[in-house]
Amino acid sequence: MAIKRSTKAKRNANSQPWLHLNGVQIQEFGTVRMFPLGLSYDARMYSSQRLNQILADTQILYSLYKKHHWLMRGPTFYQLHLLLDKHAEEQLELVDLLAERVQTLGGVAVSDPRHVAEITVIPRPPNGVEEVPAMLSRLIEAHETILVASHDAADRAADMGDDGTNDLLVSSVIRTGELQTWFLIEHLVDTPLVGDEHG
Ligand SMILES: [Fe+2]
Repeated sequence: MAIKRSTKAKRNANSQPWLHLNGVQIQEFGTVRMFPLGLSYDARMYSSQRLNQILADTQILYSLYKKHHWLMRGPTFYQLHLLLDKHAEEQLELVDLLAERVQTLGGVAVSDPRHVAEITVIPRPPNGVEEVPAMLSRLIEAHETILVASHDAADRAADMGDDGTNDLLVSSVIRTGELQTWFLIEHLVDTPLVGDEHG
């Protein structure tokens, strides 16, 4: 009589890769594991939630930068095409830092773009092409939304003892966002390229 073997044993015996195992969660989104970081459960839970919101909005900001990098047009096409791609790359670095901070705290980073779309508070742009000033002001407004949330979250994280999250938000997210906003804003100033009066 043949010995009944478990599915696992059969797989091991055949070197069969474990395929189609999706669907089983070992940690739910919105939870934090117990990590010995010298931080309270409440602090890690709070920071993870605030960071995930900023992470979702930053992923959307990254995507908006790429959209406008691609769809850019007009006399300043080349300059803005390059600038927006540089900003996109810098935002993508922030996405990684934010996600890994959530993981460091024992949480689960929002990652799938469909999940990101459910969470973000950044308004959705039209699928088509807006005028260039509208593209830029849309980016500036997205930056401000993230900056307001980051200032508040940084303050509260520090109050709860989470200096690492405070540092990430202040030193990286806020400083980068402020600088990028400045570079965008200067493109919306209506100033002539050359003087029209000869003194
Ligand atoms: Fe490109």
